[in-house]
Amino acid sequence: MEPKLPDFLNSAPCPELDDGHVLVWSGSLDLAPQALETCASILSPDELDRAARFKFEQDSNHFVAARGMLRFFLGFYTRCSPSELEFTYGDKGKPELIHASDTLKFNVSHSHGIGAWALGLVPLLGVDVEWTLRKVDLDRVGKRFFSENEWASLANLSAAERRAGFFNCWTRKEAFVKALGDGLSFSLKAFDVSTGNEAEITRIDGDQDPAKWALHAFEPWATYAGALAAVGQVQFHHFVLTDV
Ligand SMILES: CC(C)(COP(=O)(O)OP(=O)(O)OC[C@H]1O[C@@H](n2cnc3c(N)ncnc32)[C@H](O)[C@@H]1OP(=O)(O)O)[C@@H](O)C(=O)NCCC(=O)NCCS
Repeated sequence: MEPKLPDFLNSAPCPELDDGHVLVWSGSLDLAPQALETCASILSPDELDRAARFKFEQDSNHFVAARGMLRFFLGFYTRCSPSELEFTYGDKGKPELIHASDTLKFNVSHSHGIGAWALGLVPLLGVDVEWTLRKVDLDRVGKRFFSENEWASLANLSAAERRAGFFNCWTRKEAFVKALGDGLSFSLKAFDVSTGNEAEITRIDGDQDPAKWALHAFEPWATYAGALAAVGQVQFHHFVLTDV
């Protein structure tokens, strides 16, 4: 099948995907009615069932948009019909493709009306986006979830720098945990990530080697932070879908 995206995704850049490459697209989940309909038309019965169970219509629409766009990107790169792709779910809920080559990995994140879709030819990857204006008690959350080193690196910053550093740290930690797929069963204090502009993993307790991991920070949309974690020497490309 000739790979093709639907009209509403026509402006999405879709470069070649080679070994070690990771592509991330980010954009609004508030789709025009016809685009939303196009997404709904390729979802599986269990996905439509899940969409129907959201209490608020907007959350349901965002799920349909995020899952539909994921299916379109995966269909494009696997040359399969997007509606025929089948997912399997790990113990902690991480979706993976059935029948895909072992090295084609993907992950999705959504926050406050936007989504990010990551796809790569790497052994593991995870992506996270967060809205940086959300109301959050930085002290309480930081002390509870961040490691001592991470929290110490934020302690002496100005309020604005601290908020930015907080979301850098949060998205990087989440991206790493999402790459592992273990949910919160991997302690968030068992590894350190950077909190400044340069994204890195500097410590991982246990048998994981931090040098084998790549972390990339990206700006998914104004007032949002994003991070991608993957294993290997990764060539990272990020695209903002402004016309969707
Ligand atoms: C589910 C979890 C993986 C991420 O949740 P989240 O940040 O609320 O949600 P995101 O939007 O980033 O990601 C959700 C998507 O990730 C995927 N996903 C689900 N479970 C996953 C898992 N165990 N690992 C990786 N990806 C997973 C799914 O595609 C899901 O999208 P869908 O619901 O539309 O299918 C989980 O780690 C979690 O609950 N994290 C919250 C941890 C926290 O409180 N951190 C504090 C600050 S560091």
